[in-house]
Parts: sequence; C-alpha cells; structure tokens
Amino acid sequence: MVKAVVLGAAGGIGQPLSLLLKLNPDVTELGLYDIVNAPGVAADLAHIATPAKVEGYLKDDDGLQKVLTGADVVVIPAGIPRKPGMSRDDLFKTNAGIVRDLATGIATTAPNASVLVISNPVNSTVPIVAEVFKKHGVFDPKRIFGVTTLDVVRASTFVSEILGDRSLATSIAVPVVGGHSGVTIVPLLSQSSHPLPPGFGGSDLEALVKHIQFGGDEVVKAKGTGSATLSMAYAGAEFANKVILALKGKKGIVAPTFVHLAADKAGGEALKKEIGTDLEYFSAPVELGPNGVEKIGGIGKITGAEKALIAAALPDLKVNIDKGVSFIEAPK
Ligand code: NAD
Ligand code: LMR
Repeated sequence: MVKAVVLGAAGGIGQPLSLLLKLNPDVTELGLYDIVNAPGVAADLAHIATPAKVEGYLKDDDGLQKVLTGADVVVIPAGIPRKPGMSRDDLFKTNAGIVRDLATGIATTAPNASVLVISNPVNSTVPIVAEVFKKHGVFDPKRIFGVTTLDVVRASTFVSEILGDRSLATSIAVPVVGGHSGVTIVPLLSQSSHPLPPGFGGSDLEALVKHIQFGGDEVVKAKGTGSATLSMAYAGAEFANKVILALKGKKGIVAPTFVHLAADKAGGEALKKEIGTDLEYFSAPVELGPNGVEKIGGIGKITGAEKALIAAALPDLKVNIDKGVSFIEAPK
C-alpha cells in the first residue's frame, strides 16, 4: 500500500504529474491538494481504471491535514513559476513561504513521509523543508529530496540528439550533480553511459553544457508565461516512481538528487572531501532504499573542465542554501 500526495496538484506541473502517478500501479492512494481546483482534478483522475483511490482537498476544512494523513511520499510542485527575465531565485520571495507552510503540515501530520521538492528555487526550498522539520524535531535527512531529475532527463535527450539517435534517449544516463539553477547544474558528460562521439569537445562541449544548464531558461523564453510543466511532470514522476520502488524494497536504484549530506554520513563526508567543500547540501548520485537515502555516491573520475564547473557551482550553491536556512530563522 503506497499513498502518494501532490501538493500544488492543480497547477501546470501538478496536473500531469498527478496523472502519471495515477498510472503507477504501485500507488494505491493518491491525495491531491491545492488552494484551487484540487477536488475537480481528483474527480477527473478518479475515473481512470488504475488501482489508486484519488481524493482532492482545498485549504478549507483542514484539507492539508486530511490529504497528508497516512502519506508515504509527498511531492511538492506548489508555487509560482518563472516568467522571462526572472531567475529562479526571484521566486524565493513567494515560494519560500508556500514551501515553509506546506513543510509545517508535513512535519506535523506525516513526519515519516519522503518529501520530494520541485518548487523553485530548489537549492533554497530543500533547506527550508529541512529547517522546518528540525524545528519540529522530526528532521530525517534521508527523507528529503530536491528533484533535479529534469536536468538528467535533458542531458539524456540532448546527448541522444548529438549521437543522432533519439531512440537511445531513455537508456542514456548522464550524472548531473551540484544543484538546480544555472551554473550550479553540473552535467558530468565524461561519465555518460553512451560516450559522446570521438573528437566532440571544445566549443561544442561547452555549448552542450550550457544547453543543459540553461534548458529551463529556453522553455521559459519559448512559453513566455511560465516554465517547464510537461517535461517536469515526466521527470517528477520518474523520480517519484524510483522512490516508491525503493520504498517497496527494490534494491540498487540510483538517481541524482539534491540532499542534505548527513543523509549518509560516510558518503556525505567523502563527497565533501572529493569536491573540497563544507556545504551541507549537494546533488549527487544517491542510492535509494526503503528508508529514503541509502547511500550518497561520490563524483568519481571527472575531467579538468568538470572540476572547474563544480568549483564554479559552489559559491552560488552556498548563497542559495544559506538563504533557505536563514529564512526559517528570520522570516522576511
Ligand atoms: P503553476 O502556477 O502552474 O502551478 C502551481 C500550483 O501551486 C497552482 O495550482 C497554485 O494554486 C498552487 N499553489 C500555490 N500556493 C499553494 C499553496 N500554498 N498550497 C498548495 N498549492 C499552492 O506553476 P508550475 O508551472 O506548476 O510550477 C510550480 C513550481 O515548480 C514553480 O516554482 C517552478 O519554478 C517549479 N519547477 C521546478 C522544476 C524543477 O526542475 N525542480 C521544473 C519546473 C518547474
Ligand atoms: C526548469 O529547469 O525547467 C525549472 O527549474 C523551471 C525554470 O524556472 O526554469
């Protein structure tokens, strides 16, 4: 029995993500929550002939508490998206408070659930969830994840295009580490399961890295009114499905995700040494298990250029993480 909950379920990501979770036969209960339209979305999805029982709640009548009761996995795509000209950090002002309030609900009603944070800026919203959980005395770093899967999905897609065979896209795996915004997104293309063509390098490689780092900006520019929703729903469901499979006992599932490095003390400390940082959060390849993070993997062998990308990511990451942490101490 697995209860999955989507907070922000009526939004651009929330609706297709809820659809994809409804299609997962391992989900037996699907709880939807939003400040608008969640009961309607639930009524619609409830007619799909898959096992999950679907319920939708609004804020009134303790909707958040009701939806979170018994939750095993909570996915959070609630909050405003970017418009052209905005950075993810520009969303902090609005989304930090939304995520804080939702995290408070989870800490009090479903403290043992795995929490998958999609709301931007992920580099700050994950520390916000963690700090709220600390305040409530229920912090378990193994169960809080920043969803960076869209960067991994983009990397696979773009590499398949360069290899001239899109049918490879689903089997190509490229670790993407660091965080989820601009230069904090660090694709380790030298570790691609399917190597780039011989001689691919220089400005072509730099352009590919930028394409992955700023893929979100491309979508924001093309849409003009918001950011990636459908590809994010796909990526969010991919990651949630992995968390659910691991919860049910499947071994050996590894995915990059933005976590508190205390989630695996030995792995986290080794990673800090490897990249030369004392940051508390980083997106790394994580092995998932029934209790969430099982093992934080290292970076492994990378090129000099990739080392430089990691070094360039660290200052921004620090600023983003500190901002999230201090928001709970000193809300603005
Ligand atoms: P959207 O505006 O279409 O949907 C957001 C939903 O959140 C809306 O339905 C809104 O009513 C709801 N909401 C707002 N406040 C709420 C609250 N307090 N409780 C519950 N629900 C609330 O936006 P979207 O395009 O779905 O994007 C959502 C978030 O996801 C944005 O912050 C965006 O930047 C982020 N995002 C992250 C990634 C990633 O890779 N992690 C990718 C794409 C988008
Ligand atoms: C993305 O990478 O598409 C998301 O983080 C949304 C955005 O603002 O770019």
